[in-house]
Order: sequence, then C-alpha cells, then structure tokens
Amino acid sequence: MRPWIIACGVVVCLEVGGTPHTAIGAGYVEAGAKLYHERCAPCHGLDGKAPTPMAQAMTPKPRDHTDGAYMNQLSDAHIGQAIKSGGAAVGKSPMMPAQTDLSPQQIDDVVAFVRTLAVPPYRRP
Ligand code: HEC
Repeated sequence: MRPWIIACGVVVCLEVGGTPHTAIGAGYVEAGAKLYHERCAPCHGLDGKAPTPMAQAMTPKPRDHTDGAYMNQLSDAHIGQAIKSGGAAVGKSPMMPAQTDLSPQQIDDVVAFVRTLAVPPYRRP
C-alpha cells in the first residue's frame, strides 16, 4: 500500500490554491501517471510532447500536453470527456481513442496528471 501513501503526499505538495482536501481537481497525480504511461504514452509520449514515431505518423498529431497555451484553456470536464469517449466526442480526431473501461476516478486521475505537464503551469480557475 505504500505507493498510495506516497501518491497522496505528492498530491498534497502539488496542491496550488484549490480547496484543501482536493488533489488536482478530483484526481491523484501518481495513479494518473501510471495510467498515462500505460495508455497515453504510445501516442502522446512519456513527457506529453508526442515525440513518438507513432505520433509523428498521425494526422492530426496527438496533442502536445506541455503546450500550456492550448491545454490550459481546456476544462477538466472536456479533457475527461476526450479520455472517456474519445476525440470524436469533443469534435477532435477519432484517432484519439475512447478509454471506456476507466472508472470516473481513474479518469480524474489521468486529468490530474495531464495538468502537471503544461508549460506554463495550469492554474485552477
Ligand atoms: C492512438 C493514439 C492516442 C492515444 C493512445 C491517446 N491519444 Fe490523446 N490524442 C490523440 C490524437 C491524434 C489527438 C489529436 C486530436 C485532434 O487534435 O483532433 C489527441 C488529443 C488529445 C487531447 C486534446 C483534446 C482536445 O480537445 O484538443 C487530450 C487531452 C488527450 N489526447 C489526452 C489523452 C490521454 C489522457 C490519453 C490516455 C488515456 C490519450 N490521449 C491517448 C491520439 C491518442
């Protein structure tokens, strides 16, 4: 169980200005990182910059999650919807696959991790 304790610690440290008991939104960054590495990295890259050969072969290319100017304008709900139901559900490319087996908590976790990638950093409205 230890990794979860560490995960909670990380989340507390990353807390910037939200309500005290929330992580980033409703998600846990460490759990989200694990899911991201398993499910998103093949296209978006481990660092979120979409540098993989698979990504470069796609049109449109997978979104660069470090692009804060773009990513920080998206709401948690929008990102969650893109993850859960796929790109087409938010008017984007159907190449972005739906993750129908993820629980609402797991989706929140992935959103929380994606939020850590943006440069400049995401500020909760
Ligand atoms: C098979 C490759 C692939 C995988 C796997 C993938 N994506 Fe994507 N993703 C894409 C592509 C391609 C786009 C660009 C869609 C567009 O701009 O039309 C995209 C776009 C996005 C966007 C931007 C949506 C928007 O409104 O602009 C987000 C957020 C995102 N992906 C998150 C994720 C997350 C989180 C995962 C893992 C759960 C993931 N993606 C897995 C290919 C992928």
